[in-house]
Amino acid sequence: MKKGNLGLAVTTEAREFEESTVCGIFGCILKSGEAAPIVHVALKRLEYRGYDSVGTATLHENKLFIKKDSGKIDEVHALHNLDDLPGRIGIGHTRWATHGAPYQVNAHPHTDCDEQIAVVHNGIIENFAELKMELEERGHTFRSKTDTEVISHLIEEKLREGLTLVEAVRETVKRLDGSYAIAVVSVKEPDKIVCARKESPLVVGIAENAVYCASDIPAFLPMTNRSVIVQDGEIVVLSDERYEIRKILDWTQVTREPEHIDWSPELAEKQGYPHFMLKEIHEQPLCLRNTLRLQDQFLELMTTFLDRAGEVFLVACGTSYHACLAASYMFSKLALLATHPVIASEFVEQHGKSVNIDSTLLVVSQSGETADTLAAVECARLRAATVLGLTNVVGSTLTRVARVYVCQQSGPEIGVAATKTFTSQLSVLSQLALRLAKKRGKISHVEIENLEEKLEQIPDIVERIIQTQEEKVKQLAKKYRDKQCFFFLGRGISSAVALEDRLKLMEIAYVPSIAYPAGESKHGPISLIEPGFPVIFICPKDDTHKTIVGNIMEMKARGASIIVVVEKGDEEIKSLADDYIEIETGLPEVLSPIPYVIPLQLFAYYMAIERKCDPDMPRNLAKSVTVK
Ligand code: M6R
Repeated sequence: MKKGNLGLAVTTEAREFEESTVCGIFGCILKSGEAAPIVHVALKRLEYRGYDSVGTATLHENKLFIKKDSGKIDEVHALHNLDDLPGRIGIGHTRWATHGAPYQVNAHPHTDCDEQIAVVHNGIIENFAELKMELEERGHTFRSKTDTEVISHLIEEKLREGLTLVEAVRETVKRLDGSYAIAVVSVKEPDKIVCARKESPLVVGIAENAVYCASDIPAFLPMTNRSVIVQDGEIVVLSDERYEIRKILDWTQVTREPEHIDWSPELAEKQGYPHFMLKEIHEQPLCLRNTLRLQDQFLELMTTFLDRAGEVFLVACGTSYHACLAASYMFSKLALLATHPVIASEFVEQHGKSVNIDSTLLVVSQSGETADTLAAVECARLRAATVLGLTNVVGSTLTRVARVYVCQQSGPEIGVAATKTFTSQLSVLSQLALRLAKKRGKISHVEIENLEEKLEQIPDIVERIIQTQEEKVKQLAKKYRDKQCFFFLGRGISSAVALEDRLKLMEIAYVPSIAYPAGESKHGPISLIEPGFPVIFICPKDDTHKTIVGNIMEMKARGASIIVVVEKGDEEIKSLADDYIEIETGLPEVLSPIPYVIPLQLFAYYMAIERKCDPDMPRNLAKSVTVK
């Protein structure tokens, strides 16, 4: 995968090793000594990829030993002593729940019926429900609610047919749709670990006295800096001091020499990026791809609830509220459903008395733990309203109190500023609006097909925006870094983008900023404008185009510096601007917030850098605001 210029000395292979972070896997074969403590410390270094459950499996004297539980690694270790498992071969997993709540039974490794095989997995198996049904019909007993467990049972069947472990893994992964990086051990072949990769990261580490596999280089970096990047569609067999790579498709052998990694452990954790925020901005194409793999039945169920609702409130705080605001335009334009976006901390005062059994709240919260949001939920539940949840954290309070919830599958977001989780929320909300439109027969087949096609293309479009615009945005940040205040303006759905961009700049670069729907700016805020005042306009080529041209002129006439985010080739607006950022053409209006927000996330980031602020830890803020 290609990335924009990071301005960092990292190897090409390492740069390619950029994936969205949902769960971490690790495995090791030591020449001598105990694997479990090595697995434990490696998982600690992968904890940024997920931290709701942890587990280790080791092989010793043809037996499998497993310890796993829900909770952070330190908590689970305190309870179970993760170092106390025998054997020099081990695999481990640190989890960010996607399928199945963070309970002990859902923690990895997952085993087969006879507990002879253990599997750790990072990714999403899209067809797990069909496979599970098929395996259950053939007598397999499942213990967990995860998508992963089908893998261990499929391998079990293949081993029973007489295949070797590597053959069994090969035949199994051929049946999987979705993404995976797996590491598998079996008591039948207790001298090896078999790994495979498709669309989830996997890397091998080679040391004098050990071989490792992991989701990410930091896991083994203190032990070795010699690393081999496993590519999509490859299987790797690790055995004593050896690794063998083959193509899954035609079984050809791949020769790939280890690369020298010269990252510090700190840089490695951020995959070569100086900050988590920048890493997370770059992860967006992958996160958006994940949002296209959500479980159909939950989206459908949620759509049914929305369809039946007497009134719909879209409730959230901060960035999640901006996603709700954009969603209100999506629901209105696609499904002809009027919704009420409400800032959660105002919900009780504004609607607490009127909300009732006919009301439905679609509650959006990355963390699922925001106190103001949960207070609104509580108020609505007491009055028998239906609560639907969209969150990034399975097992969070929101997932427990919602009638139905959808997990947006963005993986942990470490930077306090929400970036990848915002665009994922927009993607899920647009899918809901589209489903509702279909259900209600409100838009034509042609429109539906066009929107579905564009949704599929959004991850690539976002990837191209980052590649082509990042350098330009960096230069803009240099030019405008000393400005004391910014205006952000947009019309229609872009007014939500303006609010979000304003929030990003304020919270991480500490630049007081103002955002309005552009039409409202002349009802007061325009009095602030004096020569050189920077005004950023978000102007996709939609129905609001003509009127926003007028708003730009109003600002320009008063000497404002005009910066625009426009569609490529929009010469009319470009000719009015001092600076412009271009987005490719042909985007449907309802999807435009996803690509249009990206350059201004980058702008906020580079402004923070220019102004010597730490974008990952803005002052006075917390990632999850659990007080009212
Ligand atoms: O976890 P939530 O989505 O409920 O958090 C709500 C806000 O605190 C959050 O979106 C906040 O505004 C962002 N971190 C700002 O970037």
